Amino acid sequence: MSDRNAWIIDGFLDVRGDHLHIDGVAAVSLAEKYGSPLFVYSESRIRHNIERIAAVANVIPFSLKLCYAAKAMPTLGILRAVKNAGVDIEVNSGGELWKALKAGFTGPQIIFNGTSKEVWEIELAIKSGIYAIQVDSLFELSLIEETARRLKKRASVSLRLVPEIESGTHSGLQTALLTSKFGMMPDEAFEGFRKYKDSPHLDLCGIHLHIGSQNPDPKVYAEALEKLFICLAVIYGESGVKVRHVNLGGGFPVNYLRDNSQERDIPPEQRAMFSASVDPVDAIANAWATIEPIVNLSELNRELAADLMLLLEPGRSIIADAGVCLTTVRNKKERRLSKHAKGKVDDWLLTDAGFNLLLSQETYKWYYHMISASRAGEPHKTKYKLAGPLCDGGDVYFDIEGENRLPDHRLLPKNVEVGELLALLNCGAYSLSQASQYNGRGLPAVVLIRADGKPNLIRKRDTLEDLIAGEI
Ligand SMILES: Cc1ncc(COP(=O)(O)O)c(C=O)c1O
Repeated sequence: MSDRNAWIIDGFLDVRGDHLHIDGVAAVSLAEKYGSPLFVYSESRIRHNIERIAAVANVIPFSLKLCYAAKAMPTLGILRAVKNAGVDIEVNSGGELWKALKAGFTGPQIIFNGTSKEVWEIELAIKSGIYAIQVDSLFELSLIEETARRLKKRASVSLRLVPEIESGTHSGLQTALLTSKFGMMPDEAFEGFRKYKDSPHLDLCGIHLHIGSQNPDPKVYAEALEKLFICLAVIYGESGVKVRHVNLGGGFPVNYLRDNSQERDIPPEQRAMFSASVDPVDAIANAWATIEPIVNLSELNRELAADLMLLLEPGRSIIADAGVCLTTVRNKKERRLSKHAKGKVDDWLLTDAGFNLLLSQETYKWYYHMISASRAGEPHKTKYKLAGPLCDGGDVYFDIEGENRLPDHRLLPKNVEVGELLALLNCGAYSLSQASQYNGRGLPAVVLIRADGKPNLIRKRDTLEDLIAGEI
C-alpha cells in the first residue's frame, strides 16, 4: 500500500521536506510572514476548477453562462481572479452587487438573487443594467416593475421556481423544496408571466432554480432541467413569452473526504454527502440526454430550445478546494474521557480557528480534513480532541450534540505541541464569507497564490481598531 496521502494534488498540495506546500509555497513560511490563522487560496486551482465546469459547454446544444456564486467567497482579490478566468457573477445582496461592480464586473455579467431585496438594491441592479434580477415572489415582481417604472427603465427578470426536488444534501442546504424559503411555485410564476408579458418595464428573460448546495446525486440536474423545460412550454402557451435562458443554479459537490483516513468515523449518510464526486460535465450531459427526447417531441419545443442559454451558478465547486485554512495550536491539555474512565485520557489541542471562521463546522457539522502543515509527511495516526479558541462549548471539531456526525478525534502525527501549524483542507467556500469577530477575534488575513506562483496578500488581518470600526 502506498503511504502517499490521498489529499495530495500534484502541483497544488504537496509535501516537500515534510512540509505542506501550496502551489510550491511552504505553508509554514506563509504563516510566519502573514500570521495565523490564515486563509491561503490558489489561483491555479481556481482556474482548474473553472475549466472543469466550463467544459459543460461542449455537451449541450446551448450557449453557457457561468456565474460564480459570490457568497461562497467574496473577497475582491478572489472576485477578480474569477473574473480574469472568464466567469461572470451571481450576487445575493446590494452589498455583493456593489462589490462585484468594484471588482470590475459589468452589468451584463451580473445576476442578482435573494429573498428579501430592498428597493435601493433593486434600483442599483436596474441602474447597473444587470443581466437578470432573479425574482423570489410575485410580490417582488410587482416591486421590481414599480421601481423600473419609476426609474423609466426596463428591468431584466428571471423568475425563481421552487420545483420540489429533494437533493440528498444537508437539510440546511436544500433550496428546491416547498418547505424551503426560496422562490415561487410554478403556477405563481405562470401567473407572473401572464400578468407582466406586455409590461414595458419588465423583460421576462428567464426562469431559475437552485436545488441546493453539495448535491451528492447528479440525477437532480436532469430532474431540474426537465421541470424547467416543461415550464418553458407552459409559459409560451399561456403568455406567448419565449424565455431566453434557463438557470440551473449551483450545487456541484466537492469531495471533502478525498483523504478517507477518517471516513469510518462519519455516519454513512453524512459520508455520502461529503465524499460526493460529481463531474459537472457528466451531470449536465446526462440532464440534456434526459430532456432531448422531450425537446424533439414537437416543432414548438425545438423552437423554444433554439437560441436558449443555460446559466449555472457554481460557488463551492470553484472555490472550496482552492482554499486552505492554516491554524496554530495555542494550548493543550489532557483530560480523562469521563469521571469513571480510569487512566485513559484524551489529548486536547486548542487552535486559533473556531466557528468564528468555520461556521459550518458548528451549524452543519461540516467536515474539513486536517493535517499537520510542518509534519505533513509523517504518519497521521495519533488521536486528538480538537477545539477552537472561542468561549463557547460548541466551538469544537467534533459533534458536541453527541450524534457523531463528525469524528470524535482527529488524526495527527505523534506529540503535537503548542505552536505547531495545522492545515484544514477544502476550506475555501462559505468560511471567511460567514466569519465573524465573535469574542473580539478579528478576521484573518487572506493570501492568494497567483498563477505565476507568487503569494499576494489580498486581505489584511483585522487590527484591534477594526474591532470597533463603525461603533459610536
Ligand atoms: C441561488 C444560489 N445559487 C448558487 C449557489 C451556489 O451553490 P454552490 O456553492 O453549492 O455551488 C447558492 C448557494 O447556496 C444559491 O443559493
